[in-house]
Amino acid sequence: MSRNESDESRWDRTYSGRPKDYPQPDPTLVSVDHLLPTQGRALDLACGVGGNALWLAARGLKVDAWDISGVALTQLTAAARTKGLEINTRKVDLNQTLPAAGAWDLIVVNRFLDRSLAGPISAALTEGGILFYQTFTRERVVPGGPGNPDFLLRPNELLTLFPTLHVLLFHDEAAVGDTSRGLRNQSCLVGCRMSLSS
Ligand SMILES: C[S@@+](CC[C@H](N)C(=O)[O-])C[C@H]1O[C@@H](n2cnc3c(N)ncnc32)[C@H](O)[C@@H]1O
Repeated sequence: MSRNESDESRWDRTYSGRPKDYPQPDPTLVSVDHLLPTQGRALDLACGVGGNALWLAARGLKVDAWDISGVALTQLTAAARTKGLEINTRKVDLNQTLPAAGAWDLIVVNRFLDRSLAGPISAALTEGGILFYQTFTRERVVPGGPGNPDFLLRPNELLTLFPTLHVLLFHDEAAVGDTSRGLRNQSCLVGCRMSLSS
């Protein structure tokens, strides 16, 4: 079995055992609502059951939601139907399929890291398009997240992965200060692809 076939079946198994509640958006994404477009096309990459995709569709965006797990996408489709939302789901192995250049006004990546996708993700934004990227860091203040360091961000790494974007917001709070507050265990970058003339 190839590595990605095993990824697919592992994630399918994870989602098969998940409680069938309505998927919720990530609180950090909701907190940057004012930076996000309210119309146009959005892509939720490695969307899982699509709490973020559903929230974006309810805000008026045309949403594409890609994931390797067919089980997760089936659950997302069912949730969208209950709310009368339209989400264009696509079963994709991101090791084999890249997002098209200049196609999305907003790309959301939450709790997924494949460093080789950083360039294609930046290029997949329209001019003025927004990237929301949040995922787990090597520095943790509580247990959780992937064990494999390949899937964990180094300090400030999101800044180096997306050097062509104008940074609107960046969090990497590590273990500084009162660790019972703030965004811990994860780093977040919201960036904008500026127009070529600016
Ligand atoms: C930790 S989950 C995050 C899901 C969602 N973004 C969220 O925050 O709830 C990681 C997701 O990445 C997906 N994934 C893993 N490898 C993938 C690949 N090669 N291509 C596409 N999706 C993949 C998994 O199926 C899983 O849904």
